[in-house]
Parts: sequence; structure tokens; C-alpha cells
Amino acid sequence: MARILLTSRLPDDALGPIVGHELVMPSSGVPLTTDEVADLARDVDAIVCQLTDRITEAVLACASRLAVIATVSVGYDNLDVGAATRAGVAVCNTPGVLDDTTADLAFALILAASRLLSDSERDLRNGGWTDWRFDGYLGQDVHGATLGLVGYGRIGRAVARRAEGFSMRVLHHARRPTGLQGYVIELDDLLRQADVVSLHVPLTPETRHLIDARRLALMKPTAVLVNTARGPVVDEEALGAALESGRLFAAGLDVYEHEPTIHPRLVAAPRTVLLPHIGSASFATRTAMARLATSAVAEVLAGGRPPNTVNPEVFGN
Ligand code: NAP
Ligand code: GLV
Repeated sequence: MARILLTSRLPDDALGPIVGHELVMPSSGVPLTTDEVADLARDVDAIVCQLTDRITEAVLACASRLAVIATVSVGYDNLDVGAATRAGVAVCNTPGVLDDTTADLAFALILAASRLLSDSERDLRNGGWTDWRFDGYLGQDVHGATLGLVGYGRIGRAVARRAEGFSMRVLHHARRPTGLQGYVIELDDLLRQADVVSLHVPLTPETRHLIDARRLALMKPTAVLVNTARGPVVDEEALGAALESGRLFAAGLDVYEHEPTIHPRLVAAPRTVLLPHIGSASFATRTAMARLATSAVAEVLAGGRPPNTVNPEVFGN
């Protein structure tokens, strides 16, 4: 029997794969703090964590019996994978099971930002809708527009499938040629052409502030930016300035540079839809993600090599 740390409570349906092991988890619905996780990690064989848990080199250095960490997210920028690999700890994530749910949300943001749903609903709720106006709340059409996808992996492609139903022209950029129709080698060219830009890259040193002031200035003044990837992919200060000045038409954001703190310029910005990182937040998908994470932990503890391991080199040949 192994000892497994769950940093948050998970749905009962996700616990099946780790039944029979000793589970260490919060007694209430409140997730463990960073300090609690660091302390408990010293004496466990496995950790099932969330994207808000930072598992650093310092935490790993004290976790002498740890064999596997599974984050209940597809993004794993919260973990020091290099340090885990050096320590012989497998790192697993949850690819695939959240693609459609996250793509649904990205498309919801495309529609909501382009058609000014937040601003217009806010006015209505505040009693500011006093008469129908021919020129009131004019947005940008989504149907027939050019969609530029930055990152063309699982979720980017799921968004592209939805765009077909809206008769959009779909372009995509990734760091390597995809060999697929719509590939644009230079990100700058895609930004110049797109009416809607939707971000689907992981957060890495290369993608931090990928969308900065210079690149925002390349976009059409009528363009809409949607970010469901990771907050630091966009320079929020520059985005706030572009929205304030009207240099960019609108933005739809699910992720932020310093979650859960939101840059005040974004809170105040016009034509901006702000969501609290809910890309994968459906009952079915969150359960599937948790079960994929617990399955990976069980497999590693049983001597297996789960396919959703991001550092498979820890298993040797
Ligand atoms: P994925 O399948 O790995 O796709 C990532 C894509 O980004 C690939 O096309 C990849 O190219 C490309 N890419 C990587 N680095 C790049 C760079 N420097 N420049 C240009 N393109 C680059 O990942 P996914 O499953 O679609 O997920 C994408 C991200 O979405 C996750 O990492 C996570 O941060 C975020 N996410 C957020 C939510 C939410 O709740 N808002 C939910 C799920 C996921 P290669 O094929 O060459 O690697
Ligand atoms: C959510 O943000 C994820 O990476 O799964």
C-alpha cells in the first residue's frame, strides 16, 4: 500500500484506481496550501495536484520517497519537470479528455467578446438599457471571419472544428510546420490577417509574453483576442492599453498572469469578457480529468508507464 497525497478533494468516481492505497487529503473542501503541500510531500509516494499547486525543486528535494506527480490539468507549467526528472519522479497530466469542453469555452469567448455580450448585459442589469438604438452595441461578425489559432494541438484543432460551422476561414501557427491547410509560418503574418486570434500554446519560456505590445500593434483595430491558454502568454499591461485606446476591438480571457489577481487595466477595459479560468469546468470533464490523473498514479505505482507521462525518460529503456 502506497501513500498518496491529494491536494484537493476529488470526485468519488475518480478515486477507483487508487482504492486500497492510503490517501492523505484535505478534510474539508478547502484545498491544501502551498506550505501544507510542501510539508506533506516529504512522506508520500505520489501526489495528485492541481494547476494552482507549485511543485518546485525545493519541494522535490525533500520528497525522498516520491515516485509520481499527476497534475489534474493538461498544462504542467506549475511543476518543475526538469527537477522531477533529475529526481527520478514521473510527471503525468490530463491530455485529451478536456479538449472539447475547453474548445467550447474558447468559442463562447469568441462569440461573447465579438458581440459585446458582457458590456451589453452589464448595462441591462444596471438599468442602463433605456431605449433600443440602431447603433447600440455594434460588434464584429464571427461568421465568415478569419480565425487565427496560435498553437495547433489538441485544443486548437477542436476550436478549428467549431469554426467550420461558422463558415470561418481558419489559419494556424505552431512552432513547426503542421503540413496542414491554413498553416502560417510567421506568427506576425497570422496576427496581421486574423479577425479573431485564439491562443492555444502551453506556457513555456518561449511563449511567455508571446503576445506583447509589438504584436498587439500588428493586429487589426477590429480584431478580437481570446486567451484560454495561460495568462503569461499575453502581456496584460499592453493588452489593457490596446483595449483602452481602441487599438484592439475586444478581448475574451479565461486566464491571467497572476491568478486570481486580475490586472486593474483589464478589469476596467471596455469590450472585455473576463472568466475565472473555467475552460475545463464541466462536471463530466473534471471527473474524467481526475480519473485520468489517479489512473496514471496507480499505473506508475504498479510499475507501469502511463502514456500521459510528460517525462517518460524517467522510466529508462
Ligand atoms: P497541445 O496539444 O500540446 O498543443 C499545443 C500547441 O502549441 C502545439 O501545436 C504546439 O506545437 C504549440 N506550441 C508549443 N510551443 C509553441 C511555440 N513556442 N510557438 C508556437 N506554437 C507552440 O496542448 P493542448 O492540449 O491543446 O493545450 C494547450 C494549452 O491550453 C495547455 O498547455 C494549457 O496551458 C491550456 N489549457 C487551458 C485550459 C483552461 O482551463 N483555460 C484548459 C485546458 C488547457 P508542437 O506540436 O510543436 O509542440
Ligand atoms: C487547465 O488550465 C489545464 O491546463 O488543464
